[in-house]
Parts: sequence; C-alpha cells; structure tokens
Amino acid sequence: MDKITVITLSEKKKKKEPIVMITAYDYPSAQMVDEAGVDIILVGDSLGMVVLGYENTLPVTMEDMLRHTAAVARGAKRAMVVADMPFMSYQLSPEQALENAGRFIKEAKAHAVKLEGGEEVIEAINKITSAGIPVMGHIGLTPQSIHRIGGYRVQGREEEQALKLAKDAKLLEEAGCFSIVLEAVPVDLAKKITESLNIPTIGIGAGPFCDGQVLVYHDILGIYQEFKPKFVKRYANLRKEIIDAVSNYVKEVKDGKFPDEEHSYR
Ligand code: KIV
Repeated sequence: MDKITVITLSEKKKKKEPIVMITAYDYPSAQMVDEAGVDIILVGDSLGMVVLGYENTLPVTMEDMLRHTAAVARGAKRAMVVADMPFMSYQLSPEQALENAGRFIKEAKAHAVKLEGGEEVIEAINKITSAGIPVMGHIGLTPQSIHRIGGYRVQGREEEQALKLAKDAKLLEEAGCFSIVLEAVPVDLAKKITESLNIPTIGIGAGPFCDGQVLVYHDILGIYQEFKPKFVKRYANLRKEIIDAVSNYVKEVKDGKFPDEEHSYR
C-alpha cells in the first residue's frame, strides 16, 4: 500500500486523476475513510461546529486540534493527514505560525498543515515551508474571517474579488503551498484558477473542474443537520440510523428484553 504524499498529489494533477479529500476528527472515522480510499484526511477546524457544537470555527484551540489530529493520524494508514491551523494560531507572526505548524508535525504526527488566507499569510507560509513542512492554502470563503466577510456566502462573483482570488492563488503557489482549497467560488473562476496553477486545487462548493474535492464527514453522512450548504451532497442519513438504533436499545432495556440469554454470562 503506497502512502499518499505531496508527490502523489502532484502526479495526480498531471494525470488528471481526481483527488479525494474528506474531513475526520477521530480514530474510528479516520480508519473508515482511509479504508474507503480517500487520498487526504483533513482534520478541519470545522471540528468546532460538527463535533464540539460551537456556532462557528473561531473558538477552536491548538489543544483541540492537536488532540483530534493525533487520533486521526493513528487511524490513517494510507491517506495524507492534514491539520487545520485554528484561528489565531498563525496570524500573529511567521514565528508563531512555524512554532504551531511544527507542533502538528512533531506532537500530532500530521503530514501537513492548512491555513486560511491569501496575500496576508504569505510570510507565514514561507516560514513554514522553509522548515520543510508542507502547507495547503485555503481561499475563497474562509470561515475564520466570517465576521469580516459577513456570512457564509459565495466569494469571487464580482470582478475585483475574482482578480484578488486568482492573484492570491498564484502567490500561495509561489510561497510553496503543495495544494489549495477553493471554497464557495463560482465554477468558472475555480476552473480558471485550477488551469493557471501547477499545484492541485481541492474544491468545496467550487464545481467540477478543480483537481480534487473535499466535503465534511458529518455533512455527507447526514450526522450534522443544523445547516446544509448547497454544495453538500448527503450520501447517508446516519443521524436517523443512530437515533433509530438507540431508540431500539432504550425500548429493549425498558421492556426487559435486553440483556437476554445470548448477551449474559453463566
Ligand atoms: O475546516 C474544514 O473542514 C475545512 C474544509 C471545509 C475545507 O476547512
């Protein structure tokens, strides 16, 4: 079994083989998505919403991310594990960014880190990549800037914004990113950016012309149902499955049907 590396991903772009990324936040889900054949597991700071129950990703801490990344890294055998750098873990200075990126590699055994932003994070990315740590960029809808953007909305519909995104993508490539997430970007702009780069783009709500796709585990499995963006496709309704299964358990205990002979010791 060949492990996925930055080289594999670059070759996939050249061969036009789609890259598949999904989020995961714990050991069993990492094992399952790895076995299902994903190329990259992102320990996203979406953790804050889908696992920790926060309203947005802003309260997520380095300690939250380190613990969950370490669990995912223990479960993944083939996929590359990318750790999302949480809000305020890389914005203060390039030195702070490198120190925290280093913790993900040393303490949590991630293979790479991801951080949000374009021109404004280039120095941080330069610092991290020059220490040998692979960085994934993330532009378009950047949830850590939710208060500046004013909501979870498509980015790059206006010409000025589109030009900035295309420029940011180039800058991220030049700073040494091995890949870039494009979130909530119109299809044509995502296509143009993808064609202008040598590194792969991974789209989420960015249409079919990106080099890869990413979705959130709890969204595609129907576990998190508080909010469903247009780009989410639900492949299962596990929330219902789980509620049904646990309701059965509750009923069987109350009715005295569980535990039965088969599940008891003599
Ligand atoms: O935190 C996350 O899950 C992400 C993906 C949605 C790209 O950043």
